Amino acid sequence: MADLRTTLFGVEMPSPWILASGPLSYDATGLWEAYRAGAGGVVTKTLRLEAAINPTPHMVVPRSSNLRATLFNTEKWADLTWEQWAEKELPVMAGHPGMLIASIGHTPAEGAVIAGPVAATGTVDAIECVAYTKATIVDLVREVRMAAPKIPILAKLTFNWGDDLYPAAEAALAAGATGFTAIDSIGPTLQVDIETGEPTIGGAGNKAWMSGAAIRPVAQAVVSELAVRYPGVPIVGTGGIIQAEDAVEMTMVGASALGVCTGPLLRGLEWFGRTSEKLSAWLDSHGYANLSAARGKALPKLHAVEDTNKLTFGFNPMLCTKCDLCVALCPYDAREMGGGDKPKTPTLTQILDEERCRYCGLCVEVCKPGSLTYTNWPRPASY
Ligand SMILES: Cc1cc2nc3c(=O)[nH]c(=O)nc-3n(C[C@H](O)[C@H](O)[C@H](O)COP(=O)(O)O)c2cc1C
Repeated sequence: MADLRTTLFGVEMPSPWILASGPLSYDATGLWEAYRAGAGGVVTKTLRLEAAINPTPHMVVPRSSNLRATLFNTEKWADLTWEQWAEKELPVMAGHPGMLIASIGHTPAEGAVIAGPVAATGTVDAIECVAYTKATIVDLVREVRMAAPKIPILAKLTFNWGDDLYPAAEAALAAGATGFTAIDSIGPTLQVDIETGEPTIGGAGNKAWMSGAAIRPVAQAVVSELAVRYPGVPIVGTGGIIQAEDAVEMTMVGASALGVCTGPLLRGLEWFGRTSEKLSAWLDSHGYANLSAARGKALPKLHAVEDTNKLTFGFNPMLCTKCDLCVALCPYDAREMGGGDKPKTPTLTQILDEERCRYCGLCVEVCKPGSLTYTNWPRPASY
C-alpha cells in the first residue's frame, strides 16, 4: 500500500489529513476521536477571549441538488473559554500522535494574551492564526510570534480578502508565519427556502460561510499560487476535500498536508480511515509509492502564457450515441452530425463549421461517451 505518512514542520503524521478547525474539534474528546479515526493532525476550534454563543440552527446543507457535499454555517469560534483550553483540554492531549495545532483568533490583542499559555502547555506543535482582515492577520501573527517565539505558525488565509490575500500572505511571512493554511470557508453566502422565502440558517442577516466541494477549485487556485510564490513554505491545503481523488488533486497543486472539515462532518469520522484506504489504493494503481511523489506535480505544467491555438478534434463514430448534445449545446451553432441516425455506426460523421467555431471546448466537455476528443489537447479524466 502506498505510504501516506506526511511530515509537517518536522513532525511525522501517520496520515496527510489534518482535521480543520470546526465542530469536530470542539474539545479534547473531539480531537482524540479524530486521531483514533485516522487524522494525522488536528486543529482546535478557534480560541478567543470570549467564548462563543452560536445562533441556531448554524449548519445547513444546500437545498439545490446541484451543490453536493457542500455546507453553509454561521458557527462562531470555540464555545469553551480559552482558559479551559489552556488548563484542561490541551494538557490532556499529551502523547498525541502527529500534529496538534491550536487555532487562535481573531485580533492581535487576543493573540498576545492566548498564545503564551497555549504554547506553555507543551502539547501544541503549531499555532494557526485566523483573522477577518489582512491587517489583523499580520498583527496577530506578529503578536503570537512574540508570545511564542519558537513555535511554528500557520497563517490561515481566506479568499474573502480578494486582492489582499497575497499581500497578506507575504506580510504574514515577514511577521513570523512559517506556513499557510489555505483556505477558510467562503462568504458571505445566502440560501432561502423556496416554499416559504425564509432563510435556511440562523444568525444576524442569515448570511453564511460556505465550505465543502463547492470551494475546492478556489482553494486549489490559492494553494498553487502560494506554492509557486513560496517554494518550501508548508501549505495545509484546505477546502472541499471530500474524496481520495480530491486529495490527489490538492496535493498535485502543492499542498504539503490536507485540511478537512466538511468531509468528515457530512460523512462521519469513519471518513478518515475509508479515505486513507482509497487514497492509498489510487496511488498504488497509478504507480506512486507515496503521496509525496504526487506533490506539486501540476505546478510546472501551469501555463505562463495563454493558449490561443486552434484545437483539432478527433471523432470516434463507434462510441457516438447520437445524443446530439455537442450540436444542441454549441453556443455558436458550429456543429452538425452527418452519416445517418444509427448510433455507434462507422458512417457517422461530425461536421464542424470552422468559421463559426471559437474552439471553446464545450462540445468535447459534454460528450459523455468520449467519442469527441481533441488531437492537440488532453481530455482530462473525470472521477
Ligand atoms: C461548521 C464550521 C465551523 C468552522 N469553524 C471554524 C473556526 O472556528 N475557525 C476556523 O479557523 N475555521 C473554521 N471553519 C473553517 C474550516 O476550518 C475550513 O477552513 C473550511 O471549512 C474549509 O474546509 P472544508 O471545505 O474541508 O470544510 C469552520 C467550518 C465549518 C464548516
